[in-house]
Amino acid sequence: MITLADVVKFFHRGTVNEVLALNNVSLEIARGDCITVIGSNGAGKSTLLNCLAGSFFPDSGTLRIDDENITTWPEYRRAKFIGRVFQDPMRGTCGAMSIEENMALALKRGMRRGFSLGVKAADRERFRAQLRALDLGLENRLRDRVGLLSGGQRQAMTMLMATLVRPRLLLLDEHTAALDPKTAKQILDLTREIVERDRLTTLMVTHNMHQALDFGNRLVMLHRGEIILDVRDAEKAGLTVQDLLERFYTASGERMESDRMLLG
Ligand SMILES: Nc1ncnc2c1ncn2[C@@H]1O[C@H](COP(=O)(O)OP(=O)(O)OP(=O)(O)O)[C@@H](O)[C@H]1O
Ligand SMILES: [Mg+2]
Repeated sequence: MITLADVVKFFHRGTVNEVLALNNVSLEIARGDCITVIGSNGAGKSTLLNCLAGSFFPDSGTLRIDDENITTWPEYRRAKFIGRVFQDPMRGTCGAMSIEENMALALKRGMRRGFSLGVKAADRERFRAQLRALDLGLENRLRDRVGLLSGGQRQAMTMLMATLVRPRLLLLDEHTAALDPKTAKQILDLTREIVERDRLTTLMVTHNMHQALDFGNRLVMLHRGEIILDVRDAEKAGLTVQDLLERFYTASGERMESDRMLLG
């Protein structure tokens, strides 16, 4: 169980630019929960994920993983049990290193790493098998620099790397949004496969309402830093995009502003 209790996060507090990005957010994430997170631009979705990852600390409130209070754990310490994939395919991999070096580094997550980048033969075979399953031809390019790959290929690698060592929490922040529709679907299919296979506890931010309804067992809607909808299982399965738009309107008094969301 991962718990956020009364989490508050301001940016530029006390200035004219003050933003209340998370306003008393409480959320209990059960083991194996796969939650899609939606909400309009600036709703606080990325801030929620960043708070969980420790990119910054909340101004107040607590974060726990099981019985451990991790509120002030620095990012690197949480990175041992959190896998992340961002919107930007360049962010999750190191372009100057080879495919196998990137994967070897991912394999060392959670261990004390002496930065030896030697790749063991057994690991290499494991990487090759996993890359072959992607069906992108990467299994024959283990020594190629990642900088040579396409955005979609890099994002597929980032997914593999984020989950190579089973994370206790997987954070996906619009991780298919920068890809063309065909590649986006491939990465989403891969995500589903890995999440279901390893029963990963997951938060996935998306602007695509169909995706949000289709993926996972639970859906959370944020608006101005507050959770205005939290539905799961049968209730979630019964929802349509139209329902979501109406729920948003009822809870916020606003139309969902983004065409991206309507068209998604
Ligand atoms: N590092 C930061 N410094 C200052 N303000 C920030 C920072 N990160 C987020 N904010 C502000 O906090 C609010 C919430 O931002 P956040 O990025 O969480 O929104 P979001 O729901 O992810 O939106 P989007 O759909 O556009 O990605 C916004 O008003 C944003 O401008
Ligand atoms: Mg965001």
